[in-house]
Amino acid sequence: MKKAFLFLSALLAAALPAMADEGMWLPSLISQRIGDMQAKGFRLTAEDVYSVNQASLKDAVVLFGGGCTGELVSDEGLLLTNHHCGYSYIQRHSSVEHDYLKDGFWAMNRDEELPNKGLTVSFLDHMDEVTDLVLKGYEPGMTEAQRDSVVKVNSDRLVRESTDPDKGLKANVEALFYGNRYYLFVFRVYRDVRLVGAPPSSIGKFGGDTDNWMWPRHTGDFSIFRVYADKDNNPADYSPDNVPYRPRKFFKISRKGVQEGDFTFVYGCPGSTQEYVMSDQVRYVAEQSDPQKIALRTQRLDIQKKYMSASQAVRIQYSSKNASVANAWKKWQGEEKGIRRMRTVASKLAYEQRFREWARGTRYEGIVDELGEIYARRNPTYLAYEYYNEAVRTIELLSFASAVQSRLRAGTPTEDLIDSFYKDYYQPIDEETFVAMMTSFDRNVPERFKPDWFREQLAKYGSVAAWKDDLYAHSLFIDREKVAALRSVDEVAGDPAIEMYDAFLAWYRKDLYPVIQETGAALRVANRTYMQGQMDFEPQRDFYPDANLTLRIAYGQVKGYSPYDGAYYYPVSTLKGIIEKDNPDIFDYNIPQVLRDIYAQGGHDGQPVCFLATNHTTGGNSGSPVINADGDLIGINFDRVWEGTMSDIAFNPDICRNISLDIRYLLFVVDQVGHASYLFDEMSFAD
Ligand code: ARG
Ligand code: ASP
Repeated sequence: MKKAFLFLSALLAAALPAMADEGMWLPSLISQRIGDMQAKGFRLTAEDVYSVNQASLKDAVVLFGGGCTGELVSDEGLLLTNHHCGYSYIQRHSSVEHDYLKDGFWAMNRDEELPNKGLTVSFLDHMDEVTDLVLKGYEPGMTEAQRDSVVKVNSDRLVRESTDPDKGLKANVEALFYGNRYYLFVFRVYRDVRLVGAPPSSIGKFGGDTDNWMWPRHTGDFSIFRVYADKDNNPADYSPDNVPYRPRKFFKISRKGVQEGDFTFVYGCPGSTQEYVMSDQVRYVAEQSDPQKIALRTQRLDIQKKYMSASQAVRIQYSSKNASVANAWKKWQGEEKGIRRMRTVASKLAYEQRFREWARGTRYEGIVDELGEIYARRNPTYLAYEYYNEAVRTIELLSFASAVQSRLRAGTPTEDLIDSFYKDYYQPIDEETFVAMMTSFDRNVPERFKPDWFREQLAKYGSVAAWKDDLYAHSLFIDREKVAALRSVDEVAGDPAIEMYDAFLAWYRKDLYPVIQETGAALRVANRTYMQGQMDFEPQRDFYPDANLTLRIAYGQVKGYSPYDGAYYYPVSTLKGIIEKDNPDIFDYNIPQVLRDIYAQGGHDGQPVCFLATNHTTGGNSGSPVINADGDLIGINFDRVWEGTMSDIAFNPDICRNISLDIRYLLFVVDQVGHASYLFDEMSFAD
């Protein structure tokens, strides 16, 4: 009985085309996936999802700024994204009198909406495969440099032909599948985007870095903007005469809510993944790069935390710096652990063995070994480069000194730089970080990579601590008055901070960059061959291209998971959980009084807040619309669970989960906290 069942399920598994829920698919090729999507519950057609001729869901999705996603929810340009995506804009409008980060912001009418210089949103007009056009004139046997120049000339022409500044049309040619395919993307870029609403950070960033990358999660991570256009609905610079943009399509909002097993669909702009790299590179990430970077950041975070908990002023100064250090730190821990847990290196090795056998006698013979050789040549230098970034360039005094130097050299004013640096600079943290980073550099960077200058400093001072004392005693950059008085770049010559910055930069340029550059070029060629080889090796498998911030579709279902043995996480969280976490003494968990009052009235226990699903997402997918089987908006994607962050390298459907804000929590906060329910009048509700 049991045996027969096992046999049957093995048979079924073998027949499945792609692993369940893995994949970030190209919208223009969605007709290849639509059958599978419909089998899993989706009720719309491929044309509803992506079409050039008629309005489709793609017309309601934008690249928000340079690295997030947003979605339109009204025919008057109303746009939703994450609080953490709007954060810097909300911050720029904030002052001591109007602290919108702390208290939230709600425009009560159109006149109160706030313009945001530099913020753009990009709508995809259309995308086309242009591989043949881009490679026109390329002949086998050409050198890589010749190929590059063919690609560049043809791409430039395609981009020129599609660009139209008057209509705000911008174009890019993107290499997909490691340069085996090229796609042209044409966008309409709108540049008058105004802030409409944002909850207080104690809702929009609830849980802070304590809960970041984690479940159960209760973050109201949303902010609301509006896109404006000129009278003809075309992109325009900010003007009081502009009018709300009328999109070809906007999302209807579903208030039905989600249940485990429901179909979910994320439409957005994932930034970067590497699913097809060989085992050696995965081993490098999991066994060297991630652990060493984590260790460096742990030291920095510990130092920051020590001083932050001793002083309220320092806590405020370092909260944003601390958050950005902690974000990748936590992600890498999940990635490293996930790769080990999935035995990705071993399964890639086994795959490569099968590939090698198949490749014998083909043009792919030897490609895996060639890649291995390039990585072997590259990775030791690359690790030193990671130390340069994580241990040298993180010393605040150095990067500040170099920034001031560039301004002086260019003859541009330094006041704003000086203000923003000293406002958030606490020297004891920087000094202790210096000692920790230089000590780690000395301990962990192999002798042959160390700059001579570094060795000389150590010899001269006898210890990192003595070196530190001398640097911070003699650099003028610790003294605000002196920096403000600088008039010419000559005055900083010989400053020990500048000297150190320059010495490491020279080392990077001379010893590291040439190797990184040369191996990078070799990898581009070899990975292109290997990618095509993998596609030829498994012609029946559906390949999706690695993420590169182009628009993609990921579909899956609402689902909990088991984070570790003996535990299971339910896929939905509620207001009850916020109240359970509420603690006025803990910054990350101190909710606004109004939320306590609303809860105390009763009846809100079941108010949904966030949910988990199996969509394959990554950085850049923040703010993406989460859509149900009918194409209606049920949530806003904002994070993943840390145990599943290896999904950038290998996706595990049992553990990888994206985290979304339940759209009903947005409605609740807009209404009950923001008293801005007038916004609902322009929205459309599906149920
Ligand atoms: N982890 C999410 C992402 O990678 C959210 C980061 C912002 N939130 C935070 N608490 N730092 O972007
Ligand atoms: N939090 C990420 C973002 O900002 C999303 C992720 O990495 O899952 O795009």
